[in-house]
Amino acid sequence: MLQDQITQYTAEVNAFDTHNADELEQFRIKFLGTKGIIKDIFDQFKAVSPEEKRVLGKVLNEFKQLTEAKYQALNETVESEQGLAGHVQLDLTLPGEGFEVGARHPLALVRREIIEIFNKLGFSVAEGPEIEDDWHNFSALNFPEEHPARDMQDTFFIKKGGEKGDIALRTHTSSVQVRMMEAGQPPFRALMPGRVYRNEAISARAHCFFHQVEGLYVDEKVSFADLKQTLFYFVQELYGEGTKVRFRPSYFPFTEPSAEMDISCTICKGEGCQMCKYSGWVEILGCGMVDPNVLENCGIDSKKYSGFAFGMGIERIANLKFEIKDLRLFSENDVRFLKQYKSALI
Ligand code: PHE
Repeated sequence: MLQDQITQYTAEVNAFDTHNADELEQFRIKFLGTKGIIKDIFDQFKAVSPEEKRVLGKVLNEFKQLTEAKYQALNETVESEQGLAGHVQLDLTLPGEGFEVGARHPLALVRREIIEIFNKLGFSVAEGPEIEDDWHNFSALNFPEEHPARDMQDTFFIKKGGEKGDIALRTHTSSVQVRMMEAGQPPFRALMPGRVYRNEAISARAHCFFHQVEGLYVDEKVSFADLKQTLFYFVQELYGEGTKVRFRPSYFPFTEPSAEMDISCTICKGEGCQMCKYSGWVEILGCGMVDPNVLENCGIDSKKYSGFAFGMGIERIANLKFEIKDLRLFSENDVRFLKQYKSALI
């Protein structure tokens, strides 16, 4: 009878005692193993008549619980008596397993350094969406209707026409300026880093996406002198004291006057090399005084407030810092390339 067997096994379990790991393991295999007694009794139980099942089911479960509890209690004693070393042969003199720490992406390193420098001047960080409407990317920024940048050749359009006009991947981070100015009133002093997209054939020198950092400072009486001094300070911090800057007149629809800023070549220090095409100067950013039209488009009184803006490509700055000439390397995720910048002190 199954019931008698269980009574007998119960007595056996109750009487069992050991301080020895091997004996305890034998006990576990005998009673709780996959081919053990409990499994066997449960199999037999399936064939028992329904009336018997009611009584026997309870007895069986109790027996199972008793056996498990017994095993656990003895196991704890054995383990604590033997200590971990009883089970695992530890050789504390073995060298540890190597742990590879990931590296920061060179673009992330450069972005972080740019942000840190401007933080010291009180610039905070703001972000905006990569999918933009026509207003934020073009119209509010004073781009005339027929401006070539709106062309299919330059911009990745997602949707043509619609409630909010064309929807496109932003072509520059200047769109974030608009969002920031629309959302509040001056003073604004922020950096806006982000990814931008342009419809370019991919080569060593051009890519369909890259990264920019935009800067915006709007307050009462902000002048071009403030712009120059801010960017001059930035360049000294980033490339070291003595780096020269020069401003060349330029044109952007959203700034007036506009300029492009060059720095003395960081590689040859102005002597002339491949990087600066033997001119001694390299261009690093576009900038200018925020056009009053743009301020008004964003609901800001252009008689009371003025400001400056600038925008630079992070890849360009990284190129000058690390001499990474092929833009494609930044997005190929080749670990051999990326891990070189692990300890880059910038
Ligand atoms: N948005 C410009 C570009 O993508 C850069 C810029 C930003 C110029 C702000 C002037 C002021 O080239």
